[in-house]
Amino acid sequence: MDFGYLVAAICFVVALKGLSGPKTARTGNLIGAAGAVLAVILVLTGEHIEHRAAILVTIALGAVAGVLSARRVAMTAMPQLVALFNGVGGGAAAIVAAVELGSVHGRGPLVAALFTLVVGSVSFSGSAVTFAKLQELMTSRPVLFPGGPLVFGALIAVDVAACVVGYRVQDNGPVELLAAVIVLLSLVVGILFVLPVGGADVPIVISLLNAFTGLTVAASGYVLGNTLLIVAGTLVGASGTILTRMMAAAMGRSVASILFGAFKGGSTAGSQAVSERPVRSAHAEDVAVLLGYARKVVIVPGYGLAVAQAQHTIHEMVEALEARGVEVLYGIHPVAGRMPGHMNVLLAEASVPYHQLKEMDEANSELPSTDVALVVGANDVVNPAAKTSPGSPIYGMPILSVDEARAVVFLKRSMRPGFAGIENELLYSPKTTLLFGDAKDSLTQVLQALKSL
Ligand code: TAP
Repeated sequence: MDFGYLVAAICFVVALKGLSGPKTARTGNLIGAAGAVLAVILVLTGEHIEHRAAILVTIALGAVAGVLSARRVAMTAMPQLVALFNGVGGGAAAIVAAVELGSVHGRGPLVAALFTLVVGSVSFSGSAVTFAKLQELMTSRPVLFPGGPLVFGALIAVDVAACVVGYRVQDNGPVELLAAVIVLLSLVVGILFVLPVGGADVPIVISLLNAFTGLTVAASGYVLGNTLLIVAGTLVGASGTILTRMMAAAMGRSVASILFGAFKGGSTAGSQAVSERPVRSAHAEDVAVLLGYARKVVIVPGYGLAVAQAQHTIHEMVEALEARGVEVLYGIHPVAGRMPGHMNVLLAEASVPYHQLKEMDEANSELPSTDVALVVGANDVVNPAAKTSPGSPIYGMPILSVDEARAVVFLKRSMRPGFAGIENELLYSPKTTLLFGDAKDSLTQVLQALKSL
């Protein structure tokens, strides 16, 4: 058993390593899944297991629901699916803690059980709210009400007090009642924790809640005396925390300002104003000429590429450009799209060779020697306001400096701003050309025009 757990734990570590790069992510995922399957088999074939049949039926039901939802989900809806799965994990850990609370022995396991009860419930209800926000079942703007921070703080204090009481009376007190009170309070804390967070920041909160769930799983491993749960939970907790910090850094914000910024009156969404100034727009044929006679082209994909599902078309267009001897690279911003690695996943789907994908710093060093920067459905990640406008919601976010290329072409449908809701001065620059339309339609037309050059 212990040897099997060791093998499963190694699988999880190797899986995380694999998931850190697009080339190895798929294999990493499979190795992680293999580790999880091994762990389940080890537990089910163990000596002390009861209700084997009921567990198997439950696993089968969960597996069917998981496979169906993962297969059907659109790539753009992936963050809310992750939120849902994560919330279920936190909820499951909280249920285990609630069941075990009356029978744990020793201070350490008791503290771990109370921790799991609280943080698992917070993760469950918080994830449910993030799901509702991203699925547009409710407004995605920050939800604030008078005295919100005060109510939030008071609830946390009462929740902690209930845990202290639970700790003291556990042996001979009304444990079930206390567990129910703690769960209820924690569920409300989870809701109030996420309500003030604006839409653009929700994926970061999902990552944070994911870290919470990891820690609750580790704590429940301690309660149940299961080493593998401790290892797996700690890995999820640590990687979730690192991812949260990386995403916040990539947006040039602190995690605290993302979570509590709305309390101070700052909204995470901008004005959505669109000015009437003139811009230079062109036809697909003009863009094909610009690209077809360039020496080097850097493509910056963004959320619009995912919306248009234009990953295959862009790959075809790049192949046509390469056939003409044009050097083409993709500049990938860490928060382009709506979830970590969104652009990598999207382009991998179209079998874009990994060596063409350049991370932000590398792409930025290529841009000054680039003839055309082709911005496809991206906006905030190339918006110079991040460098020049201290008041802007994206100020401080590192960007892809497409303005350093000789010419810039934007493919978008309108003059509407991106997620942050702020205007992009680059759209009005003399070196910028706009090709209006759905990215897939525009790319198809550019490809046709390239073929007849
Ligand atoms: P955005 O700034 O949101 O810009 C997307 C652009 O795509 C818009 O200007 C939109 O303009 C265009 N678009 C939408 N649908 C299109 C279509 N079918 N065809 C062509 N264009 C289309 O995207 P971005 O540059 O990728 O930046 C990502 C934003 O999301 C950042 O603000 C980032 O902070 C935020 N965010 C990202 C993450 C992660 S982890 N990726 C997490 C949280 C928040 P039109 O409407 O005019 O077409």
